[in-house]
Amino acid sequence: MAIQYTDMACETISIANKLVSKYWHPICLKSEIFNNNDFMRFEILGFELIVYNDNGHIIVFDNLCPHRGARFFMDDAGKEPIRCKYHGWGYSNGRLNIANKKSFTRCDVTAADLNKFHVDFCGDFIFFAVDPIQSLKKQLGGRIYDSLAEISSQLSGCSDVNRYFFESAWAIALENALEPYHIPLIHVDTLATLQLTEGENFFLGNNSIWHSRIGNERLDKRLRSMKKYFSTGNALEGYSSIFIFPFSMLSSTYGFSYSLQNFFPSLQDNQTYFTSRLYSALAADSRYQEVVDAFIQSTAKMNRKIFEEDHQVCKRIPARTWTSKPPKYFSDLEEKVLHFRKSCSVWADI
Ligand code: FES
Ligand SMILES: [Fe+2]
Repeated sequence: MAIQYTDMACETISIANKLVSKYWHPICLKSEIFNNNDFMRFEILGFELIVYNDNGHIIVFDNLCPHRGARFFMDDAGKEPIRCKYHGWGYSNGRLNIANKKSFTRCDVTAADLNKFHVDFCGDFIFFAVDPIQSLKKQLGGRIYDSLAEISSQLSGCSDVNRYFFESAWAIALENALEPYHIPLIHVDTLATLQLTEGENFFLGNNSIWHSRIGNERLDKRLRSMKKYFSTGNALEGYSSIFIFPFSMLSSTYGFSYSLQNFFPSLQDNQTYFTSRLYSALAADSRYQEVVDAFIQSTAKMNRKIFEEDHQVCKRIPARTWTSKPPKYFSDLEEKVLHFRKSCSVWADI
């Protein structure tokens, strides 16, 4: 019997670099860094990025000081001026401020700047890119672009941040998030209780949307009755998840809240930088704020449990089992895995 392995050891790592560099990635909402000096930090592959409010102007940059490489920020989020702790270089109002500038007589220090990345917005969502092959709008496509913009206008802010090293390859973690085939066995007391229907997949370029109804009539009725408390716009009824190729998912039940999950690759083939942020929809009326808050708190708790269940099973799958070729055996419920691999395979041979 043949041993199952791929001779291209850990293809997940070999394509991750290209995917990180060539695509736009959603990171947070503008409202999360609303005030001057607000920042958030993310890790991807071997670098860290900071998304920052510079007096109303949003910038995204490499966390390393351009002088001799000290990290500006160590916390995941906060409110602080950009000022290097080593020799005092700072940045504000679009300008780098160099301590004792006069002493730089033998180099052109005026050329120094933060190492900035590209920034763009879809509604309130902030995206960054390193060296994108296309505009954000083109990458997302009209339908997803418009949906994200509309969704972001309904959100009141971030209610929960859940961040840890997901101990599997990023592609394995993502594929798990893309298929509902595992739900009955892995999420017995959580997601499976909704009895989600097979639903429909919409393939939109490399991105996709899965929309499914809630088969558990009692729960569905209860959720429907909650609609009056939330301002959900045109949110899909039931469960929906939008996959933003290559690393992100935005999922929701009835539009009451949205969970943005990033599965950013690390340099280790069996570790992924996982962050999920839970955004609550606005209350339909200020009288309902308490009900909304209680509901969001219980959603946050439930989501954490679901992600942990996914994490535990993904840990069992070694990175070397992943390839951008289609799996030999696949259920109709794994359609999006095939689509994802096809999108990845374009980058496998470059
Ligand atoms: S390393 Fe930042 S000022 Fe020197
Ligand atoms: Fe799952």
